[in-house]
Amino acid sequence: MGRNDRASFGSKLGVILASAGSAVGLGNIWRFPFETGNHGGAAFILVYIGCVLLMGIPIMIAEFVIGRRSRANTARAYQILAPGTHWRWVGRMGVLAGFLILSYYSVVAGWTLEFIGEAATNSFAGKTADGFIAAFNSFTGHPWRPALWLVVFLLATHFIVVRGIEKGIERASKIMMPMLLLLLLILAVCSVSLPGAGKGIEFLLRPDFSKVNGDVLLGAMGQAFYSLSLGMGCLCTYASYFRNDTNLPKTAFSVGCIDTAVAVLAGIIIFPAAFSVGIQPDAGPSLLFITLPNVFQQAFGGLPVVAVVLSVMFYVLLALAALTSTISLHEVVTAYLHEEFSMTRNRAAWLVTGGCIVLGIVCSLSLGIGKEYTLFGMTLFDLFDFVTAKIMLPAGGLFISLFAGWYLDKKILWEEISNRGTLKVSVYRILVFILKFVSPVAIAGIFINELGLLK
Ligand code: PHE
Repeated sequence: MGRNDRASFGSKLGVILASAGSAVGLGNIWRFPFETGNHGGAAFILVYIGCVLLMGIPIMIAEFVIGRRSRANTARAYQILAPGTHWRWVGRMGVLAGFLILSYYSVVAGWTLEFIGEAATNSFAGKTADGFIAAFNSFTGHPWRPALWLVVFLLATHFIVVRGIEKGIERASKIMMPMLLLLLLILAVCSVSLPGAGKGIEFLLRPDFSKVNGDVLLGAMGQAFYSLSLGMGCLCTYASYFRNDTNLPKTAFSVGCIDTAVAVLAGIIIFPAAFSVGIQPDAGPSLLFITLPNVFQQAFGGLPVVAVVLSVMFYVLLALAALTSTISLHEVVTAYLHEEFSMTRNRAAWLVTGGCIVLGIVCSLSLGIGKEYTLFGMTLFDLFDFVTAKIMLPAGGLFISLFAGWYLDKKILWEEISNRGTLKVSVYRILVFILKFVSPVAIAGIFINELGLLK
């Protein structure tokens, strides 16, 4: 495919919504709360916001620059901008990260489908907190149900990716993002008004900085990359479909704000509810799926119709939010195979879907019947999460930052950021400074600290 006849997004709003659609997903609503819970609450959130500002948004702008300038998949992008160098490995590592994330992410995305069914049949009614925990464990331990939903989810992703950019991705994002935000707001209000919610609010708002250690820093940094879909060429691939008049810094800033707002809202929903019914905030990946049914049950138990309608809506929107993220993950790998190995898009997409189904099923089983098999003390599911979010994405971000800050010709950087001089970008110098020094030093520092080299 020639570089000029690639598809592109139809409108500016579409660009923001599709990028935000990639960013907003299970990372915000499922992963952010459990990472916050595992790392002690408010202080983690502040460190997280610091990471979004000092690494996330600047590196997102860098990915946009690389993608739009090269108009190619993420591995080819580096070959175009840095021919004959090893930078292309940054793109390739991103493709691999995308493939791994897609496999285990689809497991959780599949859970949302099961919960749509549970919500619709009002099966939350009358359950206690322990009942929700038991029900969740028996579902994830089931030999084939989670696998079935995972396959359904991956096939849905597959068909949207095959339909192409504008019709599929843009349209889906335009409808679901505003609806999701509205529903989250309603739920936040409900959760905060549950009896005993105060402790949860305190957990979110009163930082205890004595708890900030290397794990918290690594966790917050990894979460920032994960939640913003950064460090693996996802937004770089999307930017390759951006129009020439898309304002890159503004888009990055909007996406960063929307994404953070959704994550914080999810926290405001989950923690008051968890404390209200006595669920530990560090329950891990099951946190969302055991606290939320409680919110519906407690807040609307007396009004079964409202409880059913709102809970179905919530899980449908959660599934859609996950879908706009899985689409973006799938697109990275598909675009790579399609353009690098001259396969048809259809064939490339099938390869990705098939591979993820196999790996996803293994990840899913690793939480149930395969629980005993661990590597480095983690199930395969946890291992994939750890390796991608806490190692591959921040490492990718480090290289992207170095690439944009040091390697890339400043003329190119300026032309893309200012749309060839047509935009006034007052933060340009600060941005270059952050890309050159601040984010690489911060990321490397956190890695080194975590490896124990500073002790
Ligand atoms: N950002 C997505 C989410 O929050 C997950 C994701 C990670 C998507 C990396 C693409 C790339 O759910």
